[in-house]
Amino acid sequence: MAILITGGAGYIGSHTCVELLNAGYELVVLDNFSNSKPEVLRRIKEITGKDFTFYESDLLNVDAIESIFSQHDINAVIHFAGYKAVGESVSEPLKYYHNNITGTLNLCDAMSRHGVYDLVFSSSATVYGVPKQVPITEDSPLGATNPYGRTKQMIEEILRDLHVSDNRWSVALLRYFNPIGAHESGKIGEDPNGIPNNLMPYISQVAAGKLEQLNVFGDDYETLDGTGVRDYIHVVDLAKGHLKALESVLLTTGVDAYNLGTGFGHSVLEMVDAFEQASGQKIPFVIKERRPGDVDSCFADTRKANQKLNWAAEKTLTNMCKDAWNWQSNNPTGYTEANDLVTSIQIAP
Ligand code: WQD
Repeated sequence: MAILITGGAGYIGSHTCVELLNAGYELVVLDNFSNSKPEVLRRIKEITGKDFTFYESDLLNVDAIESIFSQHDINAVIHFAGYKAVGESVSEPLKYYHNNITGTLNLCDAMSRHGVYDLVFSSSATVYGVPKQVPITEDSPLGATNPYGRTKQMIEEILRDLHVSDNRWSVALLRYFNPIGAHESGKIGEDPNGIPNNLMPYISQVAAGKLEQLNVFGDDYETLDGTGVRDYIHVVDLAKGHLKALESVLLTTGVDAYNLGTGFGHSVLEMVDAFEQASGQKIPFVIKERRPGDVDSCFADTRKANQKLNWAAEKTLTNMCKDAWNWQSNNPTGYTEANDLVTSIQIAP
């Protein structure tokens, strides 16, 4: 019984692979390294001491997907693979629709052909768009406001239609809030390409002296201190939520969306303060204009995941900041290309 992890070399994918391997699952991992590096595979093995099968492959390669399902007894899929930069999706929508939607359709075609109907999908709180109220519940209206978010919302609808057509489908739609932090070992973490778009990796690089100061996008929001409020969740808590969702889809049928957050919001300035406390590093910042598309406040109502998945985030904001800083300070240039690459992992032909 193997679990296929698409995008398993990515930030959330790699942390989920660690938790799945530690829980005793057999993994088949697929990644095209468009937003990750081979070195992470070696580190997953280093952390867990466990082997797994890896394919450097792409969900747009139908033959490659068919080959994986033909060679392995796949029982369920956790689907992370997809582009996720909001700004880039606005300038290159077709790239996002092709990659995220067509890739998912190819995956579902292969799953259906091989009688695999259990799927955990990496969705996002971005499907809520501008929330009508906070905390946000799963039955809040959806209204993604950018092509990236619309790919997530469309894929959720596609998966619901699949279940209507064949009630053997069992799908968990995991709507992530703001994942941050890193595994406590400091061996895996967030390794964005170029200048980080997201707050925590940007703060981490300011702390490491790689960036001069943080630009705080707006201090006139309807929040306690005027800066944007978000629900930051430790990536390991998020990874553990995937284990619970996998257990759930293996046991049931139907389609359920779950908010994976902490249920608490923190402002940008609170995050700066928390990171300074946790790292001992000063974070110089300057207030700038609002970033287009940002909302005042966004945080989760997590009762459904708490009750139905028996899951709750456990790590504190201090844990998140300490683990983020531990990763950054131990890996100032992220994952360097390993010369021996992933010789210790079975590389499929
Ligand atoms: C958080 C807060 C910014 C950077 C995004 C995607 C979402 C999801 C998570 C994939 C906001 C402020 C940020 C900076 C700042 N990704 N900020 N200066 O926008 O909530 O969500 O990542 O699923 O789809 O939209 O996260 O980290 O970019 O911003 O002031 O340099 O930090 O205004 O208030 P966001 P973020």
